[in-house]
Amino acid sequence: MAAAANDIAGVPTTEEEQQQVVNPWEVSAKDGGKIDYDKLIDKFGCQRLDQQLIDRVHRITSRPPHVFLRRGVFFAHRDFNEILDAFEKGQKFYLYTGRGPSSEALHLGHLIPFMFTKYLQDAFKVPLVIQLTDDEKCMWKNLSVEECKRLARENAKDIIACGFDISKTFIFQDFNYVGGAFYENMVRINKCVTYNKVVGIFGFSGEDHIGKISFPSVQAAPSFTSSFPHLFHGNNNIRCLIPCAIDQDPYFRMTRDVAPRLGYHKPALIESSFFPALQGENGKMSASDPNSAIYVTDSEKEIKNKVNRYAFSGGQDSIENHRKYGANLEVDISVKYLSFFLEDDVELEHIKQEYGAGRMLTGEVKKRLTEVLTTLVERHRRARELVTEEMVDAFMAVRPLPNMFN
Ligand code: TYM
Repeated sequence: MAAAANDIAGVPTTEEEQQQVVNPWEVSAKDGGKIDYDKLIDKFGCQRLDQQLIDRVHRITSRPPHVFLRRGVFFAHRDFNEILDAFEKGQKFYLYTGRGPSSEALHLGHLIPFMFTKYLQDAFKVPLVIQLTDDEKCMWKNLSVEECKRLARENAKDIIACGFDISKTFIFQDFNYVGGAFYENMVRINKCVTYNKVVGIFGFSGEDHIGKISFPSVQAAPSFTSSFPHLFHGNNNIRCLIPCAIDQDPYFRMTRDVAPRLGYHKPALIESSFFPALQGENGKMSASDPNSAIYVTDSEKEIKNKVNRYAFSGGQDSIENHRKYGANLEVDISVKYLSFFLEDDVELEHIKQEYGAGRMLTGEVKKRLTEVLTTLVERHRRARELVTEEMVDAFMAVRPLPNMFN
């Protein structure tokens, strides 16, 4: 379809497609069902991440592929194969990801791209830039400039706690960094994108303020090395790989469309599905609904309560029926969450078999999930406690990164 051909379409075309909405601001499935990721791949015009590519990553990095690759959490890409081709020829690439600081703490869904980016940084030994779009959240949410700047620093602590290597990582918040060479790229990008095009990609209306309409170039600019002269010193031959969930794809469809006109490489993407809300797989875990989300700051008791109370169960309505028919694993959120965060393949398979056959009850699965999530959140909490204001300053300092590719 058109999206695949020109890399840029993205507005629903048929009545059926209009019911599944995936964009940076809204994720909702058709008729309360599940997100149809195959359809998204077709509509957005990206490629499926197949076993061959996963095997190739294994071979090139000499490391077992990350559990998010093995389990298909990262399921789509754009030109990831070209990044691997270049890497095998000894050419360099850098990673770019980000966060829009709209809440005090991250939820588990936000951790996914950062955990995966950390694995990519370690496996390929490459530099990383992390953009904190405090300006984006100020324009989209009812938050002041000052509050967004504060939230960006708080979120930076959670991001640093994921274990990024300071000698290879530059974190920046837009309100402090945008200017100079970065702003020059924004202006170059803005000149390539018409109002009609931005409306076509993002669905803005005449009622939207002009801040929203001009924002996409801010998220596009880090895809180009020349936005970071202190890191890349004008070398335009270093490619960019962006790990993110597929909701961010519209920004980068636009970026890829303009890149060749500016003489830059198109950024490559590696895209994940959504860690769903506790209530079910028809949307993503969202910071705007606290009961849909488990935060990295939740206590063991809060995690236990949320899982027991809200995690949608595929179990039957009575024990007799459950023993007889087993659980519907397709809709069960506890099993879904375990498939993201329980690394032991054998144990996961065992739970699926026993629960699916009705020998295991929902309560037992939820108990195991609570343990797994509590361990993860506790580990994160301990790491975050060690992150000081000075460390945030150090990650955000505009400086060369001497060991970028070692
Ligand atoms: P934000 O803050 O909404 O999300 C941060 C990152 O988390 C991903 N994400 C999720 N992944 C899995 N399951 C979920 N439920 C879930 N919710 C969010 C997002 O895709 C994103 O990768 N505009 C961006 C900030 C940004 C950015 C970037 C993101 C700036 N530059 C480059 C990715 C790459 C934002 O508001 O993300």
